[in-house]
Amino acid sequence: MMNVLVTGGAGYIGSHTVVELINAGYEPIVVDDLSNAKEDVIDRIEIITGKRPVFYKVDCKDKEAMRKVFSDNKIDSVIHFAAYKAVGESVRIPLEYYRNNIDSTLTLMEVMEEFGCKKFVFSSSATVYGPNNPYPYKEDMKAIESSSPYGWTKVMIERILTDYVTAHPDYCAILLRYFNPIGSHESGLLGDDPNGIPNNLMPYISRVAAGQLEKLTIYGDDYPTPDGTCQRDYLHVVDLAIGHLKALEYAENKEGVEAINLGTGNGVSVMELVHAFDKANDMELPYVIGPRRDGDLPAFWADAEKAKTLLGWEATHSVEDMCRSAWKFAKKASEK
Ligand code: NAD
Ligand code: WQD
Repeated sequence: MMNVLVTGGAGYIGSHTVVELINAGYEPIVVDDLSNAKEDVIDRIEIITGKRPVFYKVDCKDKEAMRKVFSDNKIDSVIHFAAYKAVGESVRIPLEYYRNNIDSTLTLMEVMEEFGCKKFVFSSSATVYGPNNPYPYKEDMKAIESSSPYGWTKVMIERILTDYVTAHPDYCAILLRYFNPIGSHESGLLGDDPNGIPNNLMPYISRVAAGQLEKLTIYGDDYPTPDGTCQRDYLHVVDLAIGHLKALEYAENKEGVEAINLGTGNGVSVMELVHAFDKANDMELPYVIGPRRDGDLPAFWADAEKAKTLLGWEATHSVEDMCRSAWKFAKKASEK
């Protein structure tokens, strides 16, 4: 049985991945400082899987505490989700983002080195393709700039891992570049439930559907896209979670660094997503068209071929699945 350290494992993508790891027979060890998650996520994982993962409420920047995690458990590989992730906030408080995201990665890598752990799966992002690449984005494009301090932390961490592999060729680092994960586990027990007013589209839609926010504002309908609204590559979080298991399997017998997109390969517009949500959940979401949001790109999606060839992974859930499951979770959360 393989012991996998999952940092940020109480978060949105991390918790879904922990469920899939347990279902596949892995032994996940969760580290999370609960800066953006609640401890009851661990209970929910237990309800879903029948198994309670080992949990440490620990900040990855705390080297002593991380050493204890590694000495208590023989860790075979690491999936590193722990990070701050709000793009707008990162513009306002860049130092917190650089400190948390980069320091936690460096500390983790140093402790891995002390304990001889050589398999690293990293949560990167499509944001590393920056504002200037043509889409669909392909892994061999230059991915060396981003448009926010948050995005820059991903670019920098990709660089750090790449340099580390140059110095330690027997190490394996998989840089998973996620596109736009949405949706929830089918139980409705796990999902994306940000504090405060959501910035991302699906959590915002969910709050409108629950009657907690009045209406959705669509940021611009005059983009050079088929219906004028922005297009993104939305993928189901459970598909994304499974992508991590495929990456672990791949890394088991590999060395070196590999960047891999995890997306569906399809662009879906904001308007199409709103209509899919209406259809999947039999409702009519109130919306208005507002001005463009600063920094938004008109359209991008993944070239999803590399994940297929290298990992044998492709997304299987439809946009309706994503909308149905997102609402199932949000509805339960709103009834609490
Ligand atoms: P999330 O905020 O739900 O999960 C991150 C978790 O990490 C949280 O539970 C938080 O408490 C924890 N954390 C933060 N800093 C920590 C630290 N120093 N030590 C220990 N725990 C810490 O976010 P998510 O959406 O699940 O994202 C997971 C990862 O995927 C992040 O690295 C994020 O940047 C990346 N990512 C997310 C998206 C997205 O749209 N959600 C897209 C691309 C990449
Ligand atoms: C999607 C679309 C908005 C809210 C961000 C990060 C990216 C990645 C994923 C981590 C856009 C529109 C949104 C609303 C709207 N995260 N929108 N009304 O901006 O594609 O990506 O999250 O790595 O780095 O930048 O996602 O969900 O914020 O927006 O019309 O109230 O929905 O304009 O076209 P985005 P999003």
